[in-house]
Amino acid sequence: MLTEKYMDFSKLVIYQIYPRSFMDSNHDGIGDLKGIEQKLDYLQELGINAIWLCPCYKSPNVDNGYDIADYRDIMDEFGTLQDMKDLIKAAHEHGIKVIMDLVPNHTSTEHKWFKESKKGKDNEYSDFYYWRDEPLSDWTACFGGSAWEYCPERGQYYLHSYAIEQADLNWDNPRVRDEMCAVVDFWVDLGVDGFRIDVIDQISKEFPTRNCFGPHLHEYINQMFGREKTAHLFTVGECWASDMEEVRRHCAAERNELTTLFQFEHSDLGRDTKYERRPQSLTAARDILIKWQNIADDNDLLYSLFTDNHDSSPFLSRMGNDQELRYESATCIAAMFYTLRGIPFIYQGQEIGTALPNYNSIEDFDDIEGINQYHADLPVFGEKKAMERINFGSRDGFRRPMCWSGEAYGGFSTVKPWLTTNSRYQEVNLEADRASEKSVFRFFKALLKLRLNTPAILYGSLNVISRPEDPFFVFEREYEGEKYTVICNFEEESTISVPENTEVVLQNYLDRAETFRPYEILVVKHN
Ligand code: GLC
Ligand code: CA
Repeated sequence: MLTEKYMDFSKLVIYQIYPRSFMDSNHDGIGDLKGIEQKLDYLQELGINAIWLCPCYKSPNVDNGYDIADYRDIMDEFGTLQDMKDLIKAAHEHGIKVIMDLVPNHTSTEHKWFKESKKGKDNEYSDFYYWRDEPLSDWTACFGGSAWEYCPERGQYYLHSYAIEQADLNWDNPRVRDEMCAVVDFWVDLGVDGFRIDVIDQISKEFPTRNCFGPHLHEYINQMFGREKTAHLFTVGECWASDMEEVRRHCAAERNELTTLFQFEHSDLGRDTKYERRPQSLTAARDILIKWQNIADDNDLLYSLFTDNHDSSPFLSRMGNDQELRYESATCIAAMFYTLRGIPFIYQGQEIGTALPNYNSIEDFDDIEGINQYHADLPVFGEKKAMERINFGSRDGFRRPMCWSGEAYGGFSTVKPWLTTNSRYQEVNLEADRASEKSVFRFFKALLKLRLNTPAILYGSLNVISRPEDPFFVFEREYEGEKYTVICNFEEESTISVPENTEVVLQNYLDRAETFRPYEILVVKHN
């Protein structure tokens, strides 16, 4: 049985906003907080009840805001702290909770702590970062190159797990922990309802081996979120390497660490390494979902239900047919994830079936990771293939401005946006979608409404009916005598029997046929 607190969290539907690309209110080509505020009616109509904002803090933007220079202030392009207060207030008035992105593992090298720390060993911030006389040679940074950078001013090397401009904080220093708790409290006082915590599994480190889950990880998370002031918050951790035991340790209700975490086993589907396509059936996603649903059920945990985020190209384009069956695939994928137990996350644009764009020039890219990869690829693969790889794999794939209409720049801005508009914007945009008989947006609305009004979908047990060898996914959800069957057919046409004595409560094809057509889904309620 889920605890009462977790049953309450189960009613969340979280919409992830990439602020830079959501809506530009003041025509400078960059999305901003006022732009988000303008779209709250839209989000309310969609039926979500929480937004997670990717980092909005003061930042030199080497890694799009994940390099924070001041945790208590807003990035100039996004607006002011007052705008944030207004947004929180307006969101709450719309019945929408606000979840901030917290980046505790590293700061920008422009952060005051780092600027002080690099001055020398007797500075009061000296131990806020990891300084070494020699680099630990086998440590590489996630964005390429060594993870140790020499700082001439201090005459030592500092650790950066990501970009050179993102220095890792030394969490073994109690002052760092106190500072980060104060940052959390600052935002709680401003009214935020929860946090998504960036690479949380890396904050406790072990030297010289390089491990996630350092020896003090759980203690540190508990210190942040297990306090009286924070224990009520919704928290979701980004954990790249969690196995079952770790998930249990992080998310069991009584531990007061995280409400849930992102578990990424399914995110590499449809690709071999990040940059190469690998054709794969949705049955692979089904099997991973079943595995983690069962773990969550057995342990009374909440699983996070997501396909997309700002770090990877659209799942739809990797695992579905984003051409003539774009609507069918987008809705099928949504139905199979969001009728399960856990916390649904919708990434901006997913609700209109945003698909992977294509460009011919490196000028159309911004993602530091993708661009570094492109330059590494050039000598190995040549220009054409390197472009193909960055188009497929770069994080820009789903970071491009939201397409609200078929107007110039997709109606996101009246001027050229910071990042080239999705090349398919005339075909894939909200206005066109709404006008279409096959509207992904309308399907999402119906799906979320069904979810939030159906205890069996929110809390029910899962009973998988389809067999592993079936090219589809059929399961039942049952709670307090109410039962639903969800049928998700995948790529091929299939014969699937619909249980008798049921009524249809959701479908993505406009009519019914003898067989189930590609990506057809059906949810029925048992009478
Ligand atoms: C996470 C973020 C990603 C960022 C990285 C470093 O993986 O999702 O966008 O680049 O952490 O902060
Ligand atoms: Ca703007």
